[in-house]
Amino acid sequence: MPRVFNFAAGPAILPEAVLRRAAAEITDYNGTGMSVMEMSHRSKEYIAVFEGAEQKLRTAMAVPDNYKVLFLQGGATLQFSAVPMNLLARKGRADYAVTGYFAKKAFKCAQMYGNVRTAADTGNYYAIPAQRELSPDPDASYFHYCHNNTVYGTRWPYLPETGGVPLVCDMSSSILSEPVDVSKFGVIYAGAQKNMGPAGLTVVIVRDDLLDSPALPGTPELLTYKAQAENGSMINTPATYGVYLLGLVLDWLGEAGGVAAMEGINRKKAALVYDAVGSSPVFRCKVEERSRSIMNVVFSSDSDETDARFLKEAASRGMVTLKGHRATGGIRASMYNAMPLEGAQKLVELIGEFK
Ligand SMILES: Cc1ncc(COP(=O)(O)O)c(C=O)c1O
Repeated sequence: MPRVFNFAAGPAILPEAVLRRAAAEITDYNGTGMSVMEMSHRSKEYIAVFEGAEQKLRTAMAVPDNYKVLFLQGGATLQFSAVPMNLLARKGRADYAVTGYFAKKAFKCAQMYGNVRTAADTGNYYAIPAQRELSPDPDASYFHYCHNNTVYGTRWPYLPETGGVPLVCDMSSSILSEPVDVSKFGVIYAGAQKNMGPAGLTVVIVRDDLLDSPALPGTPELLTYKAQAENGSMINTPATYGVYLLGLVLDWLGEAGGVAAMEGINRKKAALVYDAVGSSPVFRCKVEERSRSIMNVVFSSDSDETDARFLKEAASRGMVTLKGHRATGGIRASMYNAMPLEGAQKLVELIGEFK
C-alpha cells in the first residue's frame, strides 16, 4: 500500500524520511545492538538522545536560556490541571480566553482548582476575539489561551496584551509551524502528536522565575514543574521513544530550513485550500478571514450527505482522515509541517472538481 495523504488532526502525519530513519535504526541504534525503545533512560546513549532532542528544540524555537524545557507525559490535557496547580496560587486568580473546544476544556478544568474567570468568550468559535474584546485582569496569576484551535480551525492572529501578566499558551496544534517569540510567554505547552512526533510525549517550556510559584497543596511531584526541572524530566521513566522521534523530526525540520521555512510552506498550503473553498459553489468556510488557522482548514457544504460523498471520493484518491470533529461536522484538512505541498494540491484539485 503506498503512503496516503493523512489529513488527521492528531495523531497526525509524520515526515516519511523520519519514519524511514526510525525503521532503519529500530533494532540497532547507533551500534548499540538495541533499539532506543529497549534502552535504560539513564544510560549514556539514551541521555545523549534526550539532551540532543532538547538542544534541537531550543535551537528550532530559539528558546532563551532562562526557560526550562520539560519532556512530560499525560498529553496537553494533563497540563489543563498542571497549569493551575503550579501557577494559580501566585495571585490566587487566573484568566482564560475561551475560544474553542480545548480552550473551554482547559477553563472548565482550571475551575476545579480555584478562582478562574473568562477574559474572553464571544460565544463564536469561528472568530478570535480582538484585543479590545479581552478584559485581562492585571492581577491575574496568568492569562491562558490556545494559539490554534484545532477543532474550529482558528488561530490567534496577534499576541494578547495582558499588561505584564504571564501568558500561558496551549500550542498543541501549532508548535513548530511558525516562529514564536518564546520570551513573550510564561509557559508554552503542547502534546507532541501533531507537529513533533508520536502521542505520549508532552513538551512544556516554562520561564525560570515561574518555577518558584508555590504549587497548590497536594500537587503530585510528577506534575510539579519545579520538581521536573530539578530532575531533568526524569523523576520517573520519560516517554523515551517519543523524545527520540522528536529529535528525528527536529533534524528533518532543520534540514528543511527550520520553523521560518515551515511557516512559508504552511501558509502556502492553507491559502491554496482556503482559495479553493472560497471559489467552490459547494463548500464554504465559516471562519472569519483574519482568524483562519494555517494548520487546520475547516469547511463544509450545506449537507452531511454531500460532505460524506466528498470524504469517500477523497479516500478513493488517497486522501484520508478528512472528517471534521464531532463538534463541528463537515470537513477538516489538518496540514501540519509533515504534509507535503502535493497533499494540499491534490485536495484543491478535488474541491475544484466536486459538484
Ligand atoms: C489545541 C489542543 N489542546 C489540547 C488537546 C488535547 O491533547 P491531548 O490529547 O494530548 O491531551 C488537543 C488535541 O487534539 C488540541 O488540539
